[in-house]
Amino acid sequence: MFRADKFVKEKVEELKKKIKGRAIIACSGGVDSTTSAVLVHRAIGKRLLAVFVDTGFMRKNEAQRIESLFSRLGLNYRIVDASEDFISALRGVTDPERKRKIIGAKFIEIFEKVAQEFNAGYLVQGTIAPDWIESGGGLRDTIKSHHNVGGLPEKMNLELVEPLRDLYKDEVRKVAEYLNLGVKKSQPFPGPGLAIRIIGEVTKERLEIVREANAIVEEEVEKFYKFEERPWQYFAVLLPVRSVGVHGDKRVYGYTIAVRMVDSIDGMSAAYFKAHHELLDRIAIRLTREIKNVNRVVYDITNKPPATIEWE
Ligand code: XMP
Repeated sequence: MFRADKFVKEKVEELKKKIKGRAIIACSGGVDSTTSAVLVHRAIGKRLLAVFVDTGFMRKNEAQRIESLFSRLGLNYRIVDASEDFISALRGVTDPERKRKIIGAKFIEIFEKVAQEFNAGYLVQGTIAPDWIESGGGLRDTIKSHHNVGGLPEKMNLELVEPLRDLYKDEVRKVAEYLNLGVKKSQPFPGPGLAIRIIGEVTKERLEIVREANAIVEEEVEKFYKFEERPWQYFAVLLPVRSVGVHGDKRVYGYTIAVRMVDSIDGMSAAYFKAHHELLDRIAIRLTREIKNVNRVVYDITNKPPATIEWE
């Protein structure tokens, strides 16, 4: 049986001994990186700098939410707005793996600069067990290159610290709850963000569509279900498929949104969520009414495997 109190006590002691100088962490505001940051902050205080690189691919209002979270947790932090950089780096790119690689490389470039300025000797990462297992950690073939794994330490000549390396998602949540991080209600969100929820090229227009669509899906699910009844993950994907529809008495050729909801323990496998039709109704009505150019909504009914949770 996993005990969060014991884990925290032992981990903080271990980190105190291990980290001699300054450390830096790229913090997305998600459970994994925030929990790692707080553990290291408990061990070394202001010698840890938490950096949030705003790629522009975050969810609606997320940058503001992260800033207030960091400030509430008392972390020493820096927010870098790099959204223009990221979108230009992805111009014309459609291949999912290339997207991830480009986002990863850009991220490293920006993060490296901040690390040098801070004179960091250690790099803290929120890697958890499924990350390295799925990223070619030796146990399985590489399925997707998760950008928060690999790349950073080799290039940066920093000593790597991974406080959550041996934990699975549900255990990390227990630790986060024990530490009272107030991130209990959040669902997993991929590092490359909305960029991998736009199938095909990422443009500002598409980004706005998927951001709005995602916000609607989240809002409706959270209104419909109490916390315990909600799916493990629920989001919108913008497909490159356009289809014919009617708007008033005009024919339109609009975008398609795929709604995905899954239940899972740790993201390694997942079952599609048997959502109530009334909820799906509400989502479809709002998506097509409130978002210009969206005229079709489909619901993804595949499990993982054979599908992955994300579409890219
Ligand atoms: P897949 O799509 O591989 O996703 O079934 C499993 C879980 O991981 C999340 N995910 C990512 N997380 N960087 C991340 O930090 C990524 O590149 C990435 N891709 C997928 C996904 O949202 C799901 O919870």
